[in-house]
Amino acid sequence: MNTTKQNQDIRSYIDSNFAKEDELLRQVREKGSAAFQVPGQEIPPYVGKLLYLFVKLRAPKRVLEIGTLCGYSTLWLAKGLSPSSRIISLEQQPLFVERARANIAHAGLTNQVEIRLGKAVESLSTMLKNQEGPFDLILIDADKKNYAAYLEYAVSLAAPGALLLIDNLIPRESEVGSPNPEDAQSCAVYEFNQILSAHPRLDCVLLPTLAGERGRIDALGIAILN
Ligand SMILES: C[S@@+](CC[C@H](N)C(=O)[O-])C[C@H]1O[C@@H](n2cnc3c(N)ncnc32)[C@H](O)[C@@H]1O
Repeated sequence: MNTTKQNQDIRSYIDSNFAKEDELLRQVREKGSAAFQVPGQEIPPYVGKLLYLFVKLRAPKRVLEIGTLCGYSTLWLAKGLSPSSRIISLEQQPLFVERARANIAHAGLTNQVEIRLGKAVESLSTMLKNQEGPFDLILIDADKKNYAAYLEYAVSLAAPGALLLIDNLIPRESEVGSPNPEDAQSCAVYEFNQILSAHPRLDCVLLPTLAGERGRIDALGIAILN
């Protein structure tokens, strides 16, 4: 069996046996971003389940998400949250914000989840100025070129001991660890990985993941703030 087919089968097996979606999650994934011609941008269902488990494990009071899309990962995060806890999620595309807010309302989570429209760097800078931290869990899943900036904002806005999760840390179609210098996105990710692995305040590891419908290998960064 070729590796791609095997990865795809493993991913479907895990998704269908260990990460069953409710009807809303299924619809958000199937109709949400696909309707905007960007299918497959959401985290896979089993990574959603992992987020849910992290939330159950850490019981965060405040969660920050950078990169909402239509709220698929937000809904998985919210699933594990206690009723008194809150999520702020940042997204720059007005259409996605509108769709995500509708999905959050559909889930009855409007009082717990706030979706903020704007470029994440600007939203984060405002949050820092307004002393909106600390957050106990932060998920970074937006434009890769700003990952280094997002990490520094995340560190500044996080509580000691906070869990930081960063998606897509193995870029597709590039030599692992040494991308083509013309591939700006892959270079940004590998430069970010260097910053992450050497960060004086973070203990971290990359967990390989099977992303996309074809199950290509990616990685989720998992870090704890000291
Ligand atoms: C990979 S998708 C997020 C997927 C989402 N976390 C999920 O799993 O359902 C990345 C999102 O980040 C948003 N984004 C990209 N650049 C951004 C920026 N500078 N500020 C805020 N959001 C941004 C994109 O519009 C897109 O919706």
